[in-house]
Amino acid sequence: MELERLKRELELFGEENDRAQQARGHKMLNITRDTGELLAVLVQTRGAREVLEIGTSNGYSTLWLGEAVQRLGGQVTTLERDEGKVELAAHNFRRAGLDTAITQLVGEADALLPNLPTSGYELVFLDSDRQQYQAWWPEIRRLLAPRGLLVVDNAISHQGEMQEWMAEVRRDPAFITSLVPVGKGEWLIAHL
Ligand SMILES: C[S@@+](CC[C@H](N)C(=O)[O-])C[C@H]1O[C@@H](n2cnc3c(N)ncnc32)[C@H](O)[C@@H]1O
Repeated sequence: MELERLKRELELFGEENDRAQQARGHKMLNITRDTGELLAVLVQTRGAREVLEIGTSNGYSTLWLGEAVQRLGGQVTTLERDEGKVELAAHNFRRAGLDTAITQLVGEADALLPNLPTSGYELVFLDSDRQQYQAWWPEIRRLLAPRGLLVVDNAISHQGEMQEWMAEVRRDPAFITSLVPVGKGEWLIAHL
């Protein structure tokens, strides 16, 4: 299926589903389209061939990342603990013809992150359980390649939940950061 049509279909599905569902676990919580465009531009300009996503949901954001890395001959690894969402995402990746560019990992980020390669990713997209970001930071920091880029969603919409961690990262001399008012607020953290 044509990728643009699939993205539009998922945007409608996400909006309708999230309006109808009360339980947070049943919402798709997809990024906005302008966030997808930003991710694609960042992958392209960084020339990122190894990309990690934490928080797949049904794979809307992964489609943007996958399309961008495929142009560069790269790979996206994306992790998710909800098996129903993993299945939805797998179906969407096949429909997009992007399944060969995307590797899905199923399980808790806590358990999966320690098995991933040190300095293995040129771009990491973090869109998951914000309460855990500070606890995950040593692992995410380890995974970022030199001159790697971490992009964090909801950094304006839910800034209050991340404030302590954001202060910790800003004190770290190995990183420079920028808070970008795109979508729900994208926090860019560049490894020097
Ligand atoms: C905001 S959604 C991701 C949306 C997706 N990036 C998109 O834009 O299409 C966050 C996802 O993280 C998953 N998640 C939350 N805590 C997790 C954890 N500890 N380990 C793995 N996945 C987790 C949730 O199941 C949920 O699907």
